[in-house]
Amino acid sequence: MEPDLIAGPDLIELDGVEKVFDVRKKTGFLRREKHEVRAVDGISFTVPRGEMVGYIGPNGAGKSTTIKMLTGILTPSGGRLRVAGIDPSRERTRLARRIGVVFGQRTTLWWDLPLIDSYRLMHRMYRIPDARYKENLDRCVELLELAELLDVPVRQLSLGQRMRGDIAAALLHDPEVLYLDEPTIGLDVISKAKVRGFLRDLNAESGTTVLLTTHDLTDIEQLCKRVMVIDHGRLMYDGPLAGLHEAGESERTLVVDLERELPPLEVESARVVKVEGPRQWLAFPAAESAAPLVARVAERYPMVDLSVREPDIEAVIAKMYADKSTS
Ligand SMILES: Nc1ncnc2c1ncn2[C@@H]1O[C@H](COP(=O)(O)OP(=O)(O)O)[C@@H](O)[C@H]1O
Ligand SMILES: [Mg+2]
Repeated sequence: MEPDLIAGPDLIELDGVEKVFDVRKKTGFLRREKHEVRAVDGISFTVPRGEMVGYIGPNGAGKSTTIKMLTGILTPSGGRLRVAGIDPSRERTRLARRIGVVFGQRTTLWWDLPLIDSYRLMHRMYRIPDARYKENLDRCVELLELAELLDVPVRQLSLGQRMRGDIAAALLHDPEVLYLDEPTIGLDVISKAKVRGFLRDLNAESGTTVLLTTHDLTDIEQLCKRVMVIDHGRLMYDGPLAGLHEAGESERTLVVDLERELPPLEVESARVVKVEGPRQWLAFPAAESAAPLVARVAERYPMVDLSVREPDIEAVIAKMYADKSTS
């Protein structure tokens, strides 16, 4: 039997997948040079059914290209790729019934139509059974708080509202896999929280497998036990988020507002990295809880306010490379 036909526990399978773009660059008047961009350079991983995985990396790392191959929009230049046992680029239409995709930077909704009309069109396009469509729509409308927005043309929605509308659109046909490419980009804090809460429940209750690309480490922290880091088209890390912090030995920052200007605070297991009037920035190991540190500062100094800053992904990755090249 052809191994491709056996549906294993892994819903997503990549084995040495590559994508090379031929780019022509203008190098002078009427002169163009051809060169290759290896956007994805031999990536292998599997995602078991029901998992929610973070796929992170700096700009241009190859994240969107990977997702486009996983949907069948782009054909790999090499390697082997299967989603639910299907070769995406060869059977894109068949796969479309089983996957949902949201691109944060682009909407799949019809710009001039009220939101509900886009959903009605998808109902017909995907030939979703009536009862199933109604059930899924009702659930999305409730959980994504879309009731008041259904009759509003998409162009009039805020970014956060549109994103929620797009997520609903991706779920009307009950996909087994949901790809999200930067679903929280540009959203305000409240919209981000809504989107995260919804995704967490979706994964927990419906068992939908989720592959999530993001710039926001908080997305990953709140949603994904497993994270993959990609850079220059290669997989640099695949494991738990805590391990990534360790790999990067990254630090978080406690920002404290004091009652008055003071010399740099002296606190165990933290160091002052910046002072600006009564405000001081203290770096501490990312793997440690902030609570004991806050207690130590509060015990000794007149603190009026505080906040904790997470390391951003770029910083974590930069540190990971720095450590790698010196070791
Ligand atoms: N259609 C394309 N033609 C040529 N180069 C592309 C194309 N799409 C992406 N690239 C290049 O491939 C690399 C990876 O891009 P992308 O997957 O969009 O990265 P990311 O989503 O991680 O920011 C980048 O160098 C980008 O410029
Ligand atoms: Mg991208």
